[in-house]
Order: sequence, then C-alpha cells, then structure tokens
Amino acid sequence: MTETRQRKKEKNPTSENGNDQLPSEKQENKKKLSSRLLKIKEAQSKGVFGHFLTLCKFLIFLAVIPPFLNYAALQRESEALKPDGELYDIGWGQKLLLSCQGKGSPTVVLDAPTGMSSDAWALVAPKIAKYTRVCIYDRAGIGFSDRPFYNSTEGNGSEKKSNYRNRWTPFTAERMVEDLHQLISRSSDQPKPFLLVGAELGALVAQFYARMFESEVMGLVLINPLSEDVFQQDNGVWIHSWFGHMVPSFQTIQLGAAIGITRLAIMMGYLQHPMSRVVDLLDDNIDKRQKYLMCYPKHLSSVVDEHHFMNETFSQFRTAKTIKSIARNISVTVITGNYYDEQMPGPLNKAWAKSEQNLITNTYPHSHHIVVNGGDRHLLYEKSDAVVEPIRKIVKQWRSKQNANIDNAKSS
Ligand SMILES: *[C@@H]1O[C@H](CO)[C@@H](O)[C@H](O)[C@H]1NC(C)=O
Ligand SMILES: *[C@@H]1O[C@H](CO)[C@@H](O)[C@H](O)[C@H]1NC(C)=O
Ligand SMILES: *[C@@H]1O[C@H](CO)[C@@H](O)[C@H](O)[C@H]1NC(C)=O
Ligand SMILES: *[C@@H]1O[C@H](CO)[C@@H](O)[C@H](O)[C@H]1NC(C)=O
Repeated sequence: MTETRQRKKEKNPTSENGNDQLPSEKQENKKKLSSRLLKIKEAQSKGVFGHFLTLCKFLIFLAVIPPFLNYAALQRESEALKPDGELYDIGWGQKLLLSCQGKGSPTVVLDAPTGMSSDAWALVAPKIAKYTRVCIYDRAGIGFSDRPFYNSTEGNGSEKKSNYRNRWTPFTAERMVEDLHQLISRSSDQPKPFLLVGAELGALVAQFYARMFESEVMGLVLINPLSEDVFQQDNGVWIHSWFGHMVPSFQTIQLGAAIGITRLAIMMGYLQHPMSRVVDLLDDNIDKRQKYLMCYPKHLSSVVDEHHFMNETFSQFRTAKTIKSIARNISVTVITGNYYDEQMPGPLNKAWAKSEQNLITNTYPHSHHIVVNGGDRHLLYEKSDAVVEPIRKIVKQWRSKQNANIDNAKSS
C-alpha cells in the first residue's frame, strides 16, 4: 500500500516538470503564469487605488466631522453656558440679553468694546453691583442676543412709516442706540437716570445715546472711545488696518468656525480669546463661553458686521454731533490707556492717540480725563479697578448732590 502511494506521488511531479511535456502544455503554463502576474498587478493597483480611497475617506472625514462635532458641541454649550440675565423682546420678536444686579441709583449701564460680548465686564460689573445697580447687555447679534431680522414681506419701502425700524441699516450706531433704548428704557424699564459706561464702539453708542435721550442720562464714562476721526489720522493708517487686516482676520475665524477648524485651533492652543490673558481671574464659565463664542458663526458674523459698517457708524455719528451737543448737566469722563493696543504697530497707536486728543479738546473740553498707566484696550479686565474707582466716585458725587438738592428744597 505505502509503495503504490509513493509512486503516485513521484509520478505527478515528473509529469508536470519533466522534459517530456507537450508544447501545448508549455503554452498553457505560460498563460497561467501571465494571468497570475496580471492578477498580482491588478491587486497592486487595487492597493494603490484602495489607499487613494482611504485618503479620500479621510479627507471627507476631515471635512465633515469637525463641522458636525462643532455643531453638536455648540448645541450643548449654548444651553450650559447661557449667562445670567434675561432675554427681552425689543420689537419684531428680536431678543437681546440684559443682565442687571445690585441696588441703588443711578443705574450704571455697561456697553462692551467693538465685537465683544458683555463678558468684557466680567471683572467690573460685580464690583459696581456692591454699591449701585449695574446692567450689562449684548448688542444685536453679539453673544446671546439675536441678530436683527430682515422682514422680507416688508416690500420696497412704500410702507416705510409702518415699520421704520427695518429701514435702518443694522450694525450701525444709530440702530444700536435705538436697540439699547428699547432694551433698558422700554422693554425692561430700568430705573433712571443712567450712567452710561462704554468702551471703544460702546463709548460711541453711549455718546450717541446721551444726545438722543438726554433726559435719561446723568453721566458718560468713555473708555478708549472710538473717535470718528481716527480713520482720517496719518494718511488713513487705521482704514488700512481696519478693512485690510482686522475685518479679514475676523472673517477667517468665522469661516474656520463654520467648518469646525477654529474649535480644533482653540483646543490645540493656536487661537486664544482676548480675555485669556486674565484667565486666572475669570470664572471658569466665562473662559468656556469666550471659547464657545469663537466657534459660533452667528456671533462671529456679527463681529464682522460691527467692524464692516464702521464707515456708516462714523458718518451717522458726525451728523448726530452737528445736530446736538451733549447736555450741560451730563458729566463726561474719558479713560484712556497709554496705547490703544501695546502689541499693535507704533503708527497705529500714534494715530489713535491723536484722535483721542482731538475728541477731548474739541468735543469734551470740560471732561475729566484719566490716563491709566500701562493700560491699553485690555484694561477693562487687566486693570478693572482703574474703571471701577472713577465710576464709584461719580455715583457718590451724584448722590451727595441729589441729597443736597433735597435738603435745599426742604429748607426753602
Ligand atoms: C413683517 O412685516 C409685516 C408688515 O409690516 C408684518 O405684518 C409681519 O408681522 C412682519 N413679520 C415679522 C416676522 O415680523
Ligand atoms: C414697490 O413699489 C411700487 C411703487 O413704488 C409698488 O407699485 C409695488 O407694489 C411695490 N412692491 C412691493 C413688493 O411692495
Ligand atoms: C438735564 O437737563 C435737561 C434740561 O436741560 C433735563 O431735561 C434733564 O432731565 C436733566 N438731566 C438730569 C439727569 O438731571
Ligand atoms: C470706508 O471708507 C474708506 C475711505 O474713507 C474706504 O477706503 C473703505 O473702503 C470704506 N470701507 C467700506 C467697507 O465701506
């Protein structure tokens, strides 16, 4: 049995590999070999193609997943990080966030710098709340406030009077003043008078407000106010920086937020919010909220819009100034740092300083000017006491004046 098996085994190899093969058999082998080679080649090319597919999948993953993750995270965070305060309808269902605390008169209303949410006052507001009422809010589209609505059923202006609010260009100072008036004076009816405290664009809104609604305002505190002639200084260095650098960089962050890249950049530490320099002093939620806002396209597009419409804002403000000056009984205090921004190029800071000086000498010659040494536009949170202390003094003076008036009225 074993012998026959061995023979069979031996027989098979010789019949395949032996020299006694027929030519047709040889050709068939060649064919087999070439078809095998072909298969290998196919498999190899399939491998390359497979890699290509994987790469494509990876790229699609990169393109789809971050926006998706960002969107999912935004949904979660908008609930968790909503600041204290209430949303008030200021007309047509548009809601703005207002947060007030403390008791006493006057009511201090804080208006944030260009493109910043009310978080900018995180270190100022609680200190003021200890001795009087203080309110912070988010301008339209910024932070947790709605963007202005466009009513498409409005038609082309034939019924202008029925809806005058929609005629006004959103994201310009005039509209911001009207919004603020609706918010603090009508919708939420805060106790008057107001001490309006604004920084940069917020300071421009405060001055505008004091001209339009002078009976509601007892004082102005302007912190690094955005002056309407800053674009004219030194051959327009600011126009170049504003429209050529600042607006495009906000637009880039906005685009990055929409495709989810901004979130990655923040997570990896490439991108930081302005208040991150005082992160140790901040409530953890404020740090998280600032990061959230940097990933939130709606907020960022409003930041872009506030900057983009600055020409219109300045021209509205110039008109307002020629029509009306600030009432005599409204006190004006100007607080500036040594620079606009210490990290910005010298020519920009120089032009800024000139425009601030013009504002003080030409518009507010009787104002009280305070220079915060070592301060720049970040002084709201880096040197918050330099803001809180002057406000405390103004409130104290106003109160003692009120008391004196009451005493006079009693004795006469
Ligand atoms: C748009 O305007 C029309 C006419 O003024 C008004 O009836 C309608 O309520 C407005 N729509 C919204 C969403 O405000
Ligand atoms: C636009 O205005 C014209 C007249 O100025 C008027 O006839 C037309 O109905 C208006 N269109 C709308 C959509 O309101
Ligand atoms: C300032 O004076 C105007 C009249 O010139 C008056 O209407 C307004 O109520 C006064 N404001 C305050 C805060 O006293
Ligand atoms: C604003 O005005 C300046 C000239 O004063 C111009 O160079 C710039 O392009 C304008 N920007 C916009 C967005 O209108």
